[in-house]
Amino acid sequence: MTIGICNDHAGLEYKLKLVKYLSGKGHSVVDFGTDSPESCDYCDFAHPLASAVESGKVDSGIAICGTGNGMAITLNKHQGVRAGLAWNTPVAHLVKEHNNANVLVVPARFASYRQVVSMVREWLVTDFAGGRHQRRIDKIPV
Ligand code: RB5
Repeated sequence: MTIGICNDHAGLEYKLKLVKYLSGKGHSVVDFGTDSPESCDYCDFAHPLASAVESGKVDSGIAICGTGNGMAITLNKHQGVRAGLAWNTPVAHLVKEHNNANVLVVPARFASYRQVVSMVREWLVTDFAGGRHQRRIDKIPV
């Protein structure tokens, strides 16, 4: 699986660890930055990841900022993206099973790295349930 990943300064530490983790699991990882600890604007990294998801350059994405909200708000401006914010493992499961999120967003400042790995693992192995959830997803575009 090809997974795109992006972060702002708040998400840098977890991003660096996740790239190693995912590569070690055999995934191909495309890193959209930032690779600097300097304060930056999450939008500058969310938009390139979203475009890669929409174009099919990556199969899915992971985005990390302090709360996760800046990334999620930006990513969801793209019609082909369903970015879901998760704060624990059951939510990470449901954001794939019910919402078919093609980008998982995690809050670096409100989850331990251990929790983040658990969320990523759960989101990757969970299948979309379809059915009534597909009907709801079909009604999202404006
Ligand atoms: C950065 O301070 C912080 O605002 C950002 O990481 C994120 O939480 C925004 O939504």
